[in-house]
Amino acid sequence: MSKINLINSTFLDHKKTKSELINFIKKSNKLSMGEQCKKYEIEFSKFQKRKFTVMYNSGSSANLGLLQALKNLGYIKTNDKICFSGVTWSTNVMPIIQLGFQPIPVDVNINTLNCDSQNLINILKTYKNIKVFFITNVLGLCSDIDNIRKICNKNKIILIEDNCESFGSEYKKTKLGNYGLASTCSSYVGHHLSTIEGGTVSTDDYELYNMLKIVRAHGWNRNVDYDYRKKLKKNLKVDKFYDLYTFYDLGYNLRPTEINGFIGRKQLKLQSKNISSRMNNFIKFQKIMNSNKNYISIANDKMNILSNFAFPIIKSNKTNIKKIINYFIKSNIEIRPLVAGNITKQPFFKKYVKKNYNLPISDHIHECGFYIPNHSELSNKDINYLKMVLRNI
Ligand SMILES: Cc1ncc(COP(=O)(O)O)c(C=O)c1O
Repeated sequence: MSKINLINSTFLDHKKTKSELINFIKKSNKLSMGEQCKKYEIEFSKFQKRKFTVMYNSGSSANLGLLQALKNLGYIKTNDKICFSGVTWSTNVMPIIQLGFQPIPVDVNINTLNCDSQNLINILKTYKNIKVFFITNVLGLCSDIDNIRKICNKNKIILIEDNCESFGSEYKKTKLGNYGLASTCSSYVGHHLSTIEGGTVSTDDYELYNMLKIVRAHGWNRNVDYDYRKKLKKNLKVDKFYDLYTFYDLGYNLRPTEINGFIGRKQLKLQSKNISSRMNNFIKFQKIMNSNKNYISIANDKMNILSNFAFPIIKSNKTNIKKIINYFIKSNIEIRPLVAGNITKQPFFKKYVKKNYNLPISDHIHECGFYIPNHSELSNKDINYLKMVLRNI
């Protein structure tokens, strides 16, 4: 059996996509951010059912850009407390530290791997004045994010979602990424939709949408909405000569290229099949694992679409975990830790945050969890082989 990898190819329908890309590059005069990115943003918004999307050059940049934009708008200030999921990716937490906020981790639910409303309630008992909850929807799953939204609204906490691993999932008929004020998505290779490198922030908030564009490119206003631009210029009495060289607020250069926008548009069209095969595979693997008492059952009761990123395996206890990991490796199946385990155990967090947090479930996932491939390029033979290996553990 040849190796089953977490990722097969850079793109869905990769031969056709690559040849279309070659033709596009040959014909294009301009490859820096332009029409393709703009069209991708409109088409992404339509898919995500959000009013606005801003494309960035990565999911990490989208996370950074979103927090910077909220700060520029005065929605949050230096030293404000920002909560985040205990099981998440590094660059969800790093901008919280980099931009001078206080990072507060929230533990997760063992059956969903995601923060639930009780986790949030527990945190609110300990910490006052939390301003933002930057939740991560891990592996296409979520907990009761509708209740989390209610608690956030009641406590005037801005909910934002890192949806980099859950593109296309729906909970109670609402797309993940639409529960908060804004959500980020990654289109790095191996994510549901690959643009090689890339990311997005989607929102319905007009002010935030325009600030996200200011933050994306140098702090200038060239790409913002026409009316917003006019208002900015008028308020600050910017003259015609300096119009293109006025820097309104703090920003970076986090722009994507036309190559990313072009590929994104092609890949978006292939998503419904991609998502349904990820969901079908998930159900097959879940059926086997949820009947094995040595492993934690994964719950997804109210998810009408589960756009699984990779299939999680969590042992009920640490016994033999190394043996199980080796069994997968020897069986020629690529596996890796569950996202980044308990993110507060990572060296960067310990270096910059001199506090210990009690996150027992995130610890359990760190020590007893890993994930196996689930993507739409798995063949029937691959799926049957994976099922056989799962039955053996
Ligand atoms: C949850 C989560 N957030 C953010 C990112 C960062 O995305 P990117 O690799 O596009 O920077 C990842 C990457 O895998 C991720 O899994």
